[in-house]
Amino acid sequence: MSPSDGPVRSPLRYPGGKSRVVKLFEAYFPEHSDYREIFAGGAAVFFRKPRAKRNWLNDLHPGLCALYVAIRDHFTEFAELCREQKGDLRGRFNYWAFERRDLMAATGDDLLVQRAVQYYFLNRTVWGGRVVFDPKRTSRLYFSNPEGWSNLEKKLAHLSQISARLAGVRITCHGYEKCLAGATEDTFIYADPPYYRESAGHLTDKLYDKSFGVECHRHLAEALASASAKVMVSYDDCPAVRELYRGWRLVELQWKYCGRYAVTNEAKARGQKERKVTGNELLILNYSP
Ligand SMILES: C[S@@+](CC[C@H](N)C(=O)[O-])C[C@H]1O[C@@H](n2cnc3c(N)ncnc32)[C@H](O)[C@@H]1O
Repeated sequence: MSPSDGPVRSPLRYPGGKSRVVKLFEAYFPEHSDYREIFAGGAAVFFRKPRAKRNWLNDLHPGLCALYVAIRDHFTEFAELCREQKGDLRGRFNYWAFERRDLMAATGDDLLVQRAVQYYFLNRTVWGGRVVFDPKRTSRLYFSNPEGWSNLEKKLAHLSQISARLAGVRITCHGYEKCLAGATEDTFIYADPPYYRESAGHLTDKLYDKSFGVECHRHLAEALASASAKVMVSYDDCPAVRELYRGWRLVELQWKYCGRYAVTNEAKARGQKERKVTGNELLILNYSP
């Protein structure tokens, strides 16, 4: 195994990210030579498991995809621009979040390294890593985690490992549907869509750049059911999800959510302590591990 094949931590703070719990998934990885992570986000599973012969990361977020491509193909330039982000960090934040909104509309290879640094800087410094660009609600990009930009050289050393890990990996930025084409029984598809309950409560677009409604969950289940691949889906455990994946193998898992609290703001004001909520989750498989 070469050093670039071993497990590394995801470089991102990611809403719904699986970095803390990916160990629980390991027992369920099937044999495969072709790996596709179709809702990549922080790509915790890809970074954890041994690299396959062919690897594909996909996500709809253009800034996130620009980051992965820049780290893979333009690491030196990316690191130099990161090093220039110093001094007045709040000023740097305002620059990337508000003055350079033009970058947020760019796609493909256009202004790639700048978009990558913009995404990475904001991911480290906003609340919960939520890099969500909504012109009507700019307050969502709130500079709440300045310490997220400290120890930059240590972060860059980690990102250089990530760069090696991404060498030869296909990175795309489109809807997940296109990633199902050409799959075979040697393909392992991992899908980590937005939580069902967030969509049912119309909250998904607060967590991610694009919304994923209840209908989208149904389309996803149908598309995955017809894919000729080994498929693993991770989801919040709720009756609607169990219904969508009836007949699949369901593995029940539990973990403490990061940053989710069982008390309301009113309760907090009354002095009640915040505590993390335990989440009931499902791993959904169409194969026997
Ligand atoms: C739960 S997060 C994935 C978290 C990831 N597993 C991790 O460990 O960080 C869901 C991701 O799906 C992406 N997404 C939402 N709708 C999508 C779609 N239709 N096609 C592809 N990606 C989509 C979001 O941008 C978000 O990054």
